[in-house]
Amino acid sequence: MGDFEHTGEVLIPENPLERIIGQERAVRIAGLVAQQHRHLLLVGPPGTGKSLIAKAISSLLPNPKFEISVLHNSERSEKPLLSVRAGKEILLSQKTRKEYGKEIDPRGAPVFVAEKLGFRCKRCGSFSPSLQRICPSCGADKYLKYDNPFEDLIIREQKEETRVHTTRIGHNGKEELVVYEKTEDGRLLIITKEDMVKMKKDEKNMRRKILVPLKRKTFVEVVAASETELLGDVKHDPYGDHPEIGTPAYLRVVAGAIHEAHEGVLYIDELATLGTLQKYILTSMQERRFPITGRNPTSAGAIIKVDKVPCDFILVGAMNMNDLPLLNPALRSRIRGNGYEILVNTHMEDTPENRKKMAQFAAQEILMDGRIPNASYGAVKELIEEGKRIARKLDEKSGITLRLRKLSGILKLAGDLALDEGLIEQSHIKKAIKESKTIEEQITERYDNWWVAQGADFGLRSKKGSETV
Ligand SMILES: Nc1ncnc2c1ncn2[C@@H]1O[C@H](COP(=O)(O)OP(=O)(O)O)[C@@H](O)[C@H]1O
Ligand SMILES: [Mg+2]
Repeated sequence: MGDFEHTGEVLIPENPLERIIGQERAVRIAGLVAQQHRHLLLVGPPGTGKSLIAKAISSLLPNPKFEISVLHNSERSEKPLLSVRAGKEILLSQKTRKEYGKEIDPRGAPVFVAEKLGFRCKRCGSFSPSLQRICPSCGADKYLKYDNPFEDLIIREQKEETRVHTTRIGHNGKEELVVYEKTEDGRLLIITKEDMVKMKKDEKNMRRKILVPLKRKTFVEVVAASETELLGDVKHDPYGDHPEIGTPAYLRVVAGAIHEAHEGVLYIDELATLGTLQKYILTSMQERRFPITGRNPTSAGAIIKVDKVPCDFILVGAMNMNDLPLLNPALRSRIRGNGYEILVNTHMEDTPENRKKMAQFAAQEILMDGRIPNASYGAVKELIEEGKRIARKLDEKSGITLRLRKLSGILKLAGDLALDEGLIEQSHIKKAIKESKTIEEQITERYDNWWVAQGADFGLRSKKGSETV
């Protein structure tokens, strides 16, 4: 098992793949799946590391490169426009935001505007670039207010403004509203009412909802999914697309897990129990695009559709062996045709090498839990003994179990018991094993079998349990 006094001395690998113990084949293939963009089916009992393997694959993937969003369609609002932008494009569009209005010389602007926006010094009246806070002529701070001309008394600090709203007399002799705006690079713009109307209209036409952001996790987990969770939806609005009281269609579009997993891993637990939804997963895998539409046929969202939304994911499906007959054959052959099927291991041989791995496992669980003390050498040994008992009982095999969630539970319970002592000892593990028994295990211990227990529930006499009923 290696040489250590407690698990604090045991080395924990950085690489998430190396943290998975006893599943050598799965780990080897996980690397290939990530590198070659294959799919993967993991079959085996709960708590053997299927989720862990899927997460490790996602950690090997590069950061997503694309953002997926929808735009308001001013011609046909029920058909929001799809927009897929690379990170670079997003940056560029932020930089080259359209400018409204006309650039003017700050000397041509009203004095109070030039002062407020930092083009003119309030103390000496000279002009200088607005990005320069200190007046080059007199050394005054252009953003401070000098109330007393004889003393540089700072009365009040003035906020740096970028916009001033005011009025002017227009060509027709009437007063009109204008806005002076300082650009980020320090130029002065004058924006008229016509400019503002244009700006509002453009903004309306460019309205965007981000469905799948650029910065996202490459791991999307789905358990017992509903159709809308998996494929996306367009929310219902009783007022539909009504211009005043309705919510515009594009704002009601919601991405599904298949879209959120674009460029990442889509992990589906209990894949076979998804029933008819499996065929949609197959289609989305084949097409790498899947429309988003209102999934409730009676809802106002049903007429709204965004076509060809990208969903290029790596599918990692997990399931129990018993559910294999429920797996859609076409989906299965698709996975086999472009990926792997793995029956995960339920136990491993009892060798010194594998005992070392169990110590690593214990150290990992304690580290991840973060609230329990380290485990002594003796405690790890006892945990392995329990692992051997489980292997014998559940798999009728000699060796150490890899149903590690169970052992992890025992370790955490033992940790709670050892909180005051500062180290998990063998005795804590023993006690935790007793405490961690499931209801079924407790029943078989108390009564001879299920039938007797059921009788006991009805107040009938049983051999062992009658007094406690
Ligand atoms: N092979 C393994 N190596 C290391 N830890 C494991 C392994 N299998 C399970 N565990 C531990 O048990 C927990 C549950 O495992 P999980 O991957 O969710 O199992 P599954 O998805 O097969 O039900 C993990 O978070 C991890 O702490
Ligand atoms: Mg799991």
